[in-house]
Amino acid sequence: MTRPQLLIDTDPGVDDALAILMAHAHADIAGLSIAAGNVGLGHTVRNARTLVDVLGAGTPVFAGCTTPLVRAPDEDAAFVHGEDGFGDIGFPEPKAKLMDESAALALLRLTRERPGELTLVALAPLTNLALALRLDPTLPERVARLVVMGGAVTGHGNTGRVPAEFNVGFDPEAAHVVFEAFPSFDLVDWEVTLRHAFDDVEFDRWLAAGDRRAEFFGQIVATARRYNAKHDRSGVIAADALAMAVALDPSIVTRSETRAVAVELDGRLTRGATVVDWAARLGRPAQANIVLEVDQARFAAMVRRALGAES
Ligand code: BDR
Ligand code: CA
Repeated sequence: MTRPQLLIDTDPGVDDALAILMAHAHADIAGLSIAAGNVGLGHTVRNARTLVDVLGAGTPVFAGCTTPLVRAPDEDAAFVHGEDGFGDIGFPEPKAKLMDESAALALLRLTRERPGELTLVALAPLTNLALALRLDPTLPERVARLVVMGGAVTGHGNTGRVPAEFNVGFDPEAAHVVFEAFPSFDLVDWEVTLRHAFDDVEFDRWLAAGDRRAEFFGQIVATARRYNAKHDRSGVIAADALAMAVALDPSIVTRSETRAVAVELDGRLTRGATVVDWAARLGRPAQANIVLEVDQARFAAMVRRALGAES
C-alpha cells in the first residue's frame, strides 16, 4: 500500500504530538503549518520544532497567525496541555529551523506543487486554512481530502461556552469559512473522541514497551492526564490522534453520517457551536462526513506503532 501524503495544520499540544508521531510512522508529511490555539503561537511553533527533532525528520515547519481572524479568544487550553503546551518539561531550544514562509502561503504553494495528492489534516483552530481560502478559494480543488478535528455534534463541548468544542470555539469565523468552502470533509468531533479514549492501564503498558517516542510522549502527556483525572474525564483522550487515524486509513470508520454542518457565530451562550442539520430540514448541501465510531483495535494498533510499542 502506498503511504498517505499529508499536510498537517496543528497547534501542538499534547494530542497533536501523538497525531504527528502517528503520521510519521504511517505516512509522509509534506509540512506542518502551525496555528495558535492550545497555547500561543510562540509555544506551538517551538513545540512543532521539538517534535521534528524527536522524529529526526526534516519536516518543514511554517508559522501561521498569532490570533483568530476576528475576535480575541476567551480562553486557551494551557490548563490541560501545560503553560508551554508540552507539559512544562523544559525541553532545550530545538534544532529544527522555522521556514521563512507563512503557513497560509505554504498551504497554497504545497497544494499547487502537488495538486490532488495531499490529504489536509486540520488539528487546530482553522485560522490558517481560512486565511488560505480567502487568498485562494480554489484550494479545495487541489486537496485530496480534508479531515478536521473539531466541533461537538450534539452540543457536548469542552469549553466555557457549553456547546462549543475548543478548535471551533477558539476561531468560529475561521471554522465558518472552512465549513462553507469545502464541498466535503471528514469531521472528527470532541464527542466521538470521548467514546474512543484509551484505557489508562493499557496505555501505560504501551508507554513502557515503546521506544524514545514513547518516553517523550509519556513526559508531555502527564499534565493532561492529571487534569483529566481530576475532571471526570476517564482514560487517555486523544482527539487529534483519532482524526489522524481517520486521515491515515478511512476504512477504520465503522459508522458515520453525512450532514450539513454550520458554525454559530453570534450566540451569547452558543458562539462557536457546530450546528448539525440532522434531519436534513434546510436543504443545504451535506458537506460533513461526521465520524461516529471507528474500529478501536485498529486505532490502538496505529498508536502503539507510533510509540514504537509494536512493529
Ligand atoms: C482539540 O482542542 C485541543 O485542545 C486539542 O489539541 C484538540 O485539537 C480538542 O477539542
Ligand atoms: Ca490540536
